[in-house]
Amino acid sequence: MNADILLLPGDGIGPEISAALPRLFEALNKYSDITFRLIEDYVGGAAYDAYGSPCPDSVMEKAQKADAILLGCVGGPKWENLPFDKRPERGLLRLRKDLDLFGNLRPALCFSVLAEDSTLKRDIIAGLDILIVRELTGGVYFGEPRGVFDNPDGSRTGLDTQIYTSGEIRRVAHLAFDIAKKRRAEVTSCDKANVMQSGVLWREEVSGLHKSEYANVSLRHMYADNAAMQLVRNPKQFDVILTDNLFGDILSDVAAMLTGSLGMLPSASLGGANAHTGRRFAMYEPVHGSAPDIAGQNIANPCAMILSVAMMLRYSFNMQEAAEAIENAVESAIADGARTADICGAVKPVSGREMSDEIIKRFKENLQKKAAA
Ligand code: IPM
Ligand code: MG
Repeated sequence: MNADILLLPGDGIGPEISAALPRLFEALNKYSDITFRLIEDYVGGAAYDAYGSPCPDSVMEKAQKADAILLGCVGGPKWENLPFDKRPERGLLRLRKDLDLFGNLRPALCFSVLAEDSTLKRDIIAGLDILIVRELTGGVYFGEPRGVFDNPDGSRTGLDTQIYTSGEIRRVAHLAFDIAKKRRAEVTSCDKANVMQSGVLWREEVSGLHKSEYANVSLRHMYADNAAMQLVRNPKQFDVILTDNLFGDILSDVAAMLTGSLGMLPSASLGGANAHTGRRFAMYEPVHGSAPDIAGQNIANPCAMILSVAMMLRYSFNMQEAAEAIENAVESAIADGARTADICGAVKPVSGREMSDEIIKRFKENLQKKAAA
């Protein structure tokens, strides 16, 4: 069986953190029943430069047909002054929206070997394992009407619409409860029901679903501002955080930084069934951005990208062992001192390429061991 993976490295550090992936898949293919084939294309600013659009129809078509998508990162100063609909971010948002990738999973896991690298004290974050489930295709990111409008008096109005339907809330809540069952079975749902009508509905729908289908999972509600504070005060109180698109954007950056390095965290964006492939639509990408300030210097940390492949193997292909072989390879490379500048502490940093090589070497060894067992 073949699996077609659409690889969209994107902008900034995207191409360099993706550079090792062909070698990673080559190693994997030797041991896996599925043969993975990488198809590469542009997205974001790179797609604008090549095609005049941050995500043209030709790329969307490939995305529709792929078994899974791996995306690097988008954006950069070069494209900042483009009209809104041509900006790199629109490419990412089109993929999310057109593939209906409503459920965004963002784990914040503190690797014990990096517990010293957080700005928080070690005992606050050592062993941290949170999963943020962010609604990704609704809310203020896509709500209509939106725009910047001229007023008769010469002033202007900027408008965005925060909007959620019960169906949108319930499907992402389902996802959060289902995943929680495989973890510590504790969901914290975050909203602003104290000031927003959409928050009132959010809370009612999550409670209703919990009562009717997930009584064995514990649920508490928390205002999103309090959640931001609690994340910094005592993050280990959380298991799964369920929240909307905008709060999820913000809370996931906070959670990511707790772990010591944004460069370590992958994410998965999941949608409904894809009739073409028989799998669910899914895109996997690092949580971090395109870091234009360090792009092209071969110093960017490739871990979030490589760990995104592990997430892909888990959620799209149910290949738990291979996923573990990647995660273990990353952790052991770091433990052995193969660390890029962002996570090197007092040790001498290695280049992004060297770090990838160390990870792939260990990944191969792990696969060999598993095959021999
Ligand atoms: C993220 C990013 C994106 C978002 C940007 C790049 C559009 O910050 O994935 O968290 O706001 O969702
Ligand atoms: Mg963000």
